[in-house]
Amino acid sequence: MTNEAKKAVGYKAAEKVTDGKKLGLGTGSTVEYYLERLGQRIKDERLNVVGIPTSIETEKKAIEFGIPLTTFDEIQTLDLYVDGADQIDPCFRMIKGGGGALLREKMVASCSAYKVIIVDESKVVNRLGTTFALPVEVVPFGWKLCEKRIEEMGCTPWLRIMNGSVPFLTNNGNYILDCRFPEGIKEPEELELRLTKIPGVLCTGLFINLADEVLVGHENGIEILKK
Ligand code: A5P
Repeated sequence: MTNEAKKAVGYKAAEKVTDGKKLGLGTGSTVEYYLERLGQRIKDERLNVVGIPTSIETEKKAIEFGIPLTTFDEIQTLDLYVDGADQIDPCFRMIKGGGGALLREKMVASCSAYKVIIVDESKVVNRLGTTFALPVEVVPFGWKLCEKRIEEMGCTPWLRIMNGSVPFLTNNGNYILDCRFPEGIKEPEELELRLTKIPGVLCTGLFINLADEVLVGHENGIEILKK
């Protein structure tokens, strides 16, 4: 069911793209369906669009699907951002960064005029952080210091590890601390402010005011939520 729901919302989001648009391309398994359908439309309809990818993974997929790419050296504003999420609450606040692309995702989302989030229904929650840890990107230098300060905020941070004991590195060469909150995140806005004040913290996976429309994939169809 989940993959079908992901495909349905990914394909639906691709219908929003019109000729001449500058696109922010999110990251993840749901977005992969969007990229696939977008690539088909570019080929079939000769759409003239250009995208900025939020990760190396998305860059590779976009190339595979024939989506023209650009960089922030060329353009600094985008028309449409489409991305997935790890969790989203009724106020459209999200946790992102399960795939480690949070910093680039937040940069790309923040300069996009319209932001569409595509999720299957398992991602919709009443309170963020109850079943998914909050990713926080930190510089490797002194990461233990960041860990200690974040811990003082009432959560348990874990250094994300890949392959045995090797720390996971983001596309920007940084570490991720996955932060578990025993009762979830009560005040996301306040937490965001406190976390981003810690020297060494580059970005949190809390995405607030970064969604205009949400497409939720259910077993029996797509629900469209707008702000
Ligand atoms: C990438 O770092 C994340 O923010 C993804 O956008 C998020 O994890 C959604 O991915 P899936 O669509 O694979 O669940």
